[in-house]
Amino acid sequence: MNRVYFDNAATTPICKDVQEAMAQAIGNLYGNPSSIHTEGRNARAAIEEARKKVANYIGASIGEIFFTSGGTESNNTALKCAVRDLGVKRIISSPLEHHCILHSLDSLESAGVIERVNVNIDQEGNIDIKHLEELLQSSDVPTLVSLMHSNNEVGTLLPLEKVAALCEENNAYFHSDTVQTVGYFPIDVSKTPISFLSGSAHKFYGPKGIGFIYVNANNQIKPYMDGGAQERNMRGGTENIYGIIGLAKGLESSYEELDIRRAKTTSVRNYMKEQLMAHFPDITFNGNQENYHYKVLSASFPPSDKADLLLLNLDMAGISVSGGSACSSGAEAGSHVIGALHGDSPRKTIRFSFSHSNTKEEVDFAISKLRVILPEMAV
Ligand SMILES: Cc1ncc(COP(=O)(O)O)c(C=O)c1O
Repeated sequence: MNRVYFDNAATTPICKDVQEAMAQAIGNLYGNPSSIHTEGRNARAAIEEARKKVANYIGASIGEIFFTSGGTESNNTALKCAVRDLGVKRIISSPLEHHCILHSLDSLESAGVIERVNVNIDQEGNIDIKHLEELLQSSDVPTLVSLMHSNNEVGTLLPLEKVAALCEENNAYFHSDTVQTVGYFPIDVSKTPISFLSGSAHKFYGPKGIGFIYVNANNQIKPYMDGGAQERNMRGGTENIYGIIGLAKGLESSYEELDIRRAKTTSVRNYMKEQLMAHFPDITFNGNQENYHYKVLSASFPPSDKADLLLLNLDMAGISVSGGSACSSGAEAGSHVIGALHGDSPRKTIRFSFSHSNTKEEVDFAISKLRVILPEMAV
């Protein structure tokens, strides 16, 4: 066994059928999608076919899907356009969100254009629904709720339908960062009242640097990126056609094979959990262990000198994992999520995150290496 990749929440490898679809497009579709000649029209048709696919898989209409450069741009667009164009003056969110949400909120708050409120959370990362309801009922100020569907570090899931219904009842807009769940869980915006949601291809076996935002047709927002008439005047710039084709193919495979992939990933995740518990009795797990994203397993080891270098030692042993979140720097900085859940804990947190291509043999390999790296904790 050469290397084991257990970091699929940071990003996923591009799967074969996506590679093939993209390679074919790179070879054939070179026209500018805004040109009216045949090459241009062919490129335009491929983009619109991709948009239709994305819309169909999440129950949206075609006019509600806009391609972006990824989850970060989609999340920035949702929050900032809601404030600029929809009159939102208050945003309810949580300290467990991804940095692209937290830092967008920092900038809106420091510009003095929003009141920022955090909903209470418990130690597993569940939001306090009662508190959310109280917050929604306590003010008439136009409000947006922004809460992620699955936490990327600990995997706790949000009860999406319940939160969406609560927002609708209280006339609040609802944005969900669904970057970790699009392609992994069925999402149907025709049944769940959501104002905005965000997707990113590299989390579902597509390429990096391409994503989408769903904007409910009732929400008339203005362009986030000024420029040409691309994306129906919403986002100027010649489209990332190869990325868009890769995104749609990645989403298609993910949804077509959802049940099989889910079963395989869940069984590897749960085997890893069992094995960790059997060999490291002092291990603890972060996040809700009943209502969780099946690709994520966040484990904390007791403090020790060896645990300090765990990420590095695992990498040298051929195992790629992440300490909390690897999205921004790859550096082993303290995790804001683990900090918000457990305070300044000296325990060492590792996020294992799986795909349907991982195997139990890879888990056995990782456990054998962990036993060598942390002999004083292993039994
Ligand atoms: C929950 C969540 N939101 C947003 C992002 C950002 O997405 P992107 O890398 O496509 O900008 C990530 C990961 O990168 C994520 O895990």
